Amino acid sequence: MGSPRTSALRASAALSVPRRAIPQVVSRREPSLLVRDTILLGDSIAMLNSLPEASVDLIFADPPYNLQLEGALNRPDQSLVDAVDDEWDKFASFADYDRFTRDWMAAAQRVMKPNATLWVIGSYHNIFRVGSIMQDLGFWLLNDIVWRKANPMPNFRGRRFTNAHETMIWASKSAQAKSYTFHYDALKAGNEDTQVRSDWYLPLCTGGERLKDEKGDKVHPTQKPEALLARILLSSSNPGDVVLDPFFGSGTTGAVAKRLGRHYIGIERDPAYAKAAEARIAAVEPLDDTALAIAPTKRSEPRIPFNALIEAGLIAPGVELVDAKRRFRAKVKADGSLVLGPATGSIHKVGALAQGLPACNGWTFWHLEKGDELVVIDMLRQDIRASMPAD
Ligand SMILES: C[S@@+](CC[C@H](N)C(=O)[O-])C[C@H]1O[C@@H](n2cnc3c(N)ncnc32)[C@H](O)[C@@H]1O
Repeated sequence: MGSPRTSALRASAALSVPRRAIPQVVSRREPSLLVRDTILLGDSIAMLNSLPEASVDLIFADPPYNLQLEGALNRPDQSLVDAVDDEWDKFASFADYDRFTRDWMAAAQRVMKPNATLWVIGSYHNIFRVGSIMQDLGFWLLNDIVWRKANPMPNFRGRRFTNAHETMIWASKSAQAKSYTFHYDALKAGNEDTQVRSDWYLPLCTGGERLKDEKGDKVHPTQKPEALLARILLSSSNPGDVVLDPFFGSGTTGAVAKRLGRHYIGIERDPAYAKAAEARIAAVEPLDDTALAIAPTKRSEPRIPFNALIEAGLIAPGVELVDAKRRFRAKVKADGSLVLGPATGSIHKVGALAQGLPACNGWTFWHLEKGDELVVIDMLRQDIRASMPAD
């Protein structure tokens, strides 16, 4: 482990995620230095306050839930349920919990870049308090995501419904922050070309992924599944971004961030958890750049005017374009506009006028006839994009 000073300087100098970065646990640090790929050992609020303002791209927080468990819980066979009864999850009152929540969230908001977003996970015990404090602090709620657990713990006493989900609130830093990261098109492409919904069905963290000590006991009582963090990071961060987790625990966020080519900063006050997280992250191999490249979104693709199809010789002036059912025919003019009866204008305007609609995407409406076949002109536009040199 390097000294706090050297590890801080080394990490801040790195421009991209080192392929075999060794995580560092740092207990004392240079104020106002952003130490990337590091676990900061100490209290979240104090550590957040020591980080530079507007310096992180994404925060995932899995804070204490304040579960308020009363006494031991047994299964029907009388075996003891391994419940979360740790000191770090206990608060004297709701007011105490609210104070803590307000303080760490305000500290988190300060270190967020203007377009950064915050994810907070919780259960019915705390998430309503968390959500209302978030709004009071000026965060702008974007979604609440329900993590539906594929293998929830049963309700052993049979007195309530099975508690089978947790809730994540996703918010931008303020109502004014409009340009936050969200990889809508990439997510849709990975979901059978269907919008990804706000209910996610994923199993709890079990099997080989669950960290165990030499006695076979869980290293951390609330280790989150990597698949959950992967969805969060893939949807709302970019490779090279700085992802911060103020309640790092076993380091799930760090492990997933490293694998996905993001930088991480973890804050954890329990040295045993920090050490386990450090070893876990050191064993992670980052994916290569090809696996991490984000598919260009429709909005980010280079703009191609219709005229470029004529200039490229893909459409000749004077030919007719038709809609998919061959109900309308418009002639292509030499300047790249269309004419259909008395209507003349862009491919979009003439498409809209033909149908009597306020708007129309001409690229998907108009087709070129090739013998009996129709080729949608958007395909020709894609051919031009494919022939352009990469940035
Ligand atoms: C719910 S667990 C996070 C588990 C983590 N997401 C994982 O996958 O392992 C919350 C963690 O926050 C830590 N913690 C609680 N209060 C803290 C505080 N004020 N400062 C720093 N860490 C704290 C606890 O020690 C615990 O490890």
